[in-house]
Amino acid sequence: MRIVRTVRELRAAVAAAKAAGSTAALIPTMGALHEGHLSLVRAARAEHGFVMMSIFVNPTQFTEAADLAAYPRNEDRDAALAESAGVDLVFAPDAAELYPAGFATTVHVAGAITETLEGAGRGPAHFDGVATIVSKLLIAAAPDAAYFGQKDAQQLVVVRRMVADLGLPVRIVACPTSRDDDGLARSSRNTRLSTEQRSSALAIPRALAAIAESARSGETDAAALRERGAAVLAQSGLTAEYLALVDPDTLEAVPRVTGATLCAIAVRVGEVRLIDNVLLGAGPEQR
Ligand code: PAF
Repeated sequence: MRIVRTVRELRAAVAAAKAAGSTAALIPTMGALHEGHLSLVRAARAEHGFVMMSIFVNPTQFTEAADLAAYPRNEDRDAALAESAGVDLVFAPDAAELYPAGFATTVHVAGAITETLEGAGRGPAHFDGVATIVSKLLIAAAPDAAYFGQKDAQQLVVVRRMVADLGLPVRIVACPTSRDDDGLARSSRNTRLSTEQRSSALAIPRALAAIAESARSGETDAAALRERGAAVLAQSGLTAEYLALVDPDTLEAVPRVTGATLCAIAVRVGEVRLIDNVLLGAGPEQR
């Protein structure tokens, strides 16, 4: 496995792989790799001859300086994990490579899909940062496909919109949320939970499961479903920052669950902000 630091080296490597007949996949990450990232690598590996991973803690998508400062960084560990999962090339640039002096361009996806949920909680700059860095990575690496986890459901919607609007020639692949055995969605933030907080955090997947179960049993009223989830969280002393039932493409709130609906949740457990989601009305394989 190679590690390259410049867009120039990245382009040369992907051009060589394509010239040799491979299709190329990119898994964009901010490092702190866990099993969830490795499941994306395996999905990409199954479909492409050349698998790239970017590792870059993107400063422009952090709206809290403390969150950026606390973000775990360990390139040696990440590189070893990436290699063991089958990555061919890691792109690990420094900030000046992607944001050179004078950098003045922002990719802004407008409307509800960036203003609600995470956009409301973290501020609109968050998705500007995500859309800008993901478009730069897609332009630099020119992959045939890019792989993202369904856990960051809103990020996926934003990336799909941005790719469609800019006409970028890349297939966006969504992979199911990777979960620990106890149901907690895998996240680099989980390492910041104490044992007690981790056990409280299990109320998040439990709340989503309760909502999904109520929906399967015929409850369609969004307010009633939200109350069901809130009650499960309350048993563990948690309150949702948001617990929303939205259209999975537009992220507009729905009053009733009459078709595929995204149920998205954000909860602070101590200082750690966790997100998760479930697709309702979309079949059990989506959970
Ligand atoms: O999901 C992430 O880790 C980041 O938002 C991404 C897509 C790598 C962009 O920095």
